[in-house]
Amino acid sequence: MNNSASEQKWKWWPLLPLYPYGRRRTIFRELVPNQIWSFEQLQGIYYVAVPVRLLVIRVKNELMIINPLPPTGELLREIDLLQKKIGPVKTIVLPTASGLEHKIGLPALARAFPNAKIWLCPGQWSFPFQLPFDWLGIPSNRTNILLADGFPHGDDCEWISLGPIDIGLARFQEISCFHKPTKSLLVTDALVGIEDTPPELFNLDPTPLLFHSREKGSEELIDSPIARRKGWLRLVLFASYLKPEKLEIPKIKEILENSFKPKMRNKRSHFGIYPFAWQKGWELSAKKLVGEKTPLIQIAPVIERLVFPRGKKAFIAWLNKIESLKGISSLISAHYSGKVRFTTNEIRALKVKIDNSNWEKTQGDFKFLSWFDQKLLDIGIVPKNPLKKFSD
Ligand SMILES: [Fe+2]
Repeated sequence: MNNSASEQKWKWWPLLPLYPYGRRRTIFRELVPNQIWSFEQLQGIYYVAVPVRLLVIRVKNELMIINPLPPTGELLREIDLLQKKIGPVKTIVLPTASGLEHKIGLPALARAFPNAKIWLCPGQWSFPFQLPFDWLGIPSNRTNILLADGFPHGDDCEWISLGPIDIGLARFQEISCFHKPTKSLLVTDALVGIEDTPPELFNLDPTPLLFHSREKGSEELIDSPIARRKGWLRLVLFASYLKPEKLEIPKIKEILENSFKPKMRNKRSHFGIYPFAWQKGWELSAKKLVGEKTPLIQIAPVIERLVFPRGKKAFIAWLNKIESLKGISSLISAHYSGKVRFTTNEIRALKVKIDNSNWEKTQGDFKFLSWFDQKLLDIGIVPKNPLKKFSD
């Protein structure tokens, strides 16, 4: 397999400058034999990177792509092999209105498959101005809007909307796909399954894990299974809570004292600059987010606390529809674990968990997200009733 740097090049990275910037390695996996394939890349900030997934779904004798990713040469070569085996890519679906990390690859992906129809979640937005699709690189002559223009592949797929929810500057909405032949629910950000070991993608380059496995900037990045797992648990905490309870930011003086040590004067170690101090108990916090034997299915905390705090009704309505899907057996999300068991038993357990816990959490690891949400409310960026705008 040729996985040279040139094949992993993503020249549009400055549009959304996320780690690993111009080089995107892709992991390719078959999730359901002959039916669903997964392509994963890392995306994040300051080595806080989690896998983002593009799915290729077989619909009869053609292919549908859900959740676009930057189409590097490596990614296109693998999809081409699938096209030769199954049939052409005729559909590309961007099922989310808000998730920038899923949108950024769409224009280039649309150009790579000039005969594919494009389907977008309604309420797409661009910042700071609302621009026409063509200006954003999305060809309007072959673009459809989900719901308003119907849905693609109605025989094989049932499409279920979560939201819309008014989040102030934009809307949150995603249209989940229940792929009937495989009984799989394909979601973008609504739910994730997180496991306690690092995803395979990090085997290609464990640097983000090793970077965060340390206690201070003067420590070298040393690879070991323990360091990788420690780094992974901390990445999960970062990605879930932005500022977890057990993370402190040391004083500048302390950070600088541990920076620029002889062996650390390189880009990979960020020159020894490490503005984090993990406090006792961090591991216990992390363990609440990960499943030991099977991935723990959950609403990603950052979504739960910043998108849904006043939108529980919309989430439960979506979950009830999911529960009624005939024969549902697995969940495939655009983040974290690939395919996770998800039957009516797991759905009911999730509902019980939601019923028994406080929805708008304000304490512990949720303290920062709760503070942030309150700030957005106070300055009037997010509305008090996020469902009102769309119920009129
Ligand atoms: Fe996402």
